[in-house]
Amino acid sequence: MGLHWVSEIQEFVKKKFSRSDAEFCGFEWYFEEHVEKVTRIAEMLRKKYGGDKRVVIAAAYLHDVGLTEGGVKDHEEKSIEIAKQFLKRISYSEDEIEKVCKAILATKGEGGEKSLEEKIVATADGMAHFLSNQFLIKAFLVGNFQDFASWLEKKIEKNMKKIHFGDERNEMEPVASRLRKAVGAWKT
Ligand SMILES: [Fe+2]
Repeated sequence: MGLHWVSEIQEFVKKKFSRSDAEFCGFEWYFEEHVEKVTRIAEMLRKKYGGDKRVVIAAAYLHDVGLTEGGVKDHEEKSIEIAKQFLKRISYSEDEIEKVCKAILATKGEGGEKSLEEKIVATADGMAHFLSNQFLIKAFLVGNFQDFASWLEKKIEKNMKKIHFGDERNEMEPVASRLRKAVGAWKT
């Protein structure tokens, strides 16, 4: 994207995942397969629907960074903690930081009124799961299709719920529907 602050955020997050991936499974995947894709989709949605670029990009890059310092449970809160410290260092304003934190929280997929930036980042997070090899790598990491299928069954619906725009829901529905069929077959 060619902007100094963008590369600063990108490098920070990339390094954190590179370290945690090495410990977790021995190969790097999460940043490229998920985080980078979420950010690209978020930027595409921002160009389509509007919203603050600095907020959208920072939240997209940082939304899962909590995973690098602990488990999956409540990782959004951990991401917020890390984002607050880091963004202060690269001179984000208090107001921007607050908006970024809210957009990170929105990726939890819970209900409630959402700002445009929150909708964009949550939607991008939901869509990225369907548009990358993330599920395939997860299947490999889980090791058997029965357990993977149970995990995927919940994940499909959770991610569809994160998609806040009609166009994008319609675009992802056929993908979700094919995955539901696969899950059904693996579970029997
Ligand atoms: Fe995510």
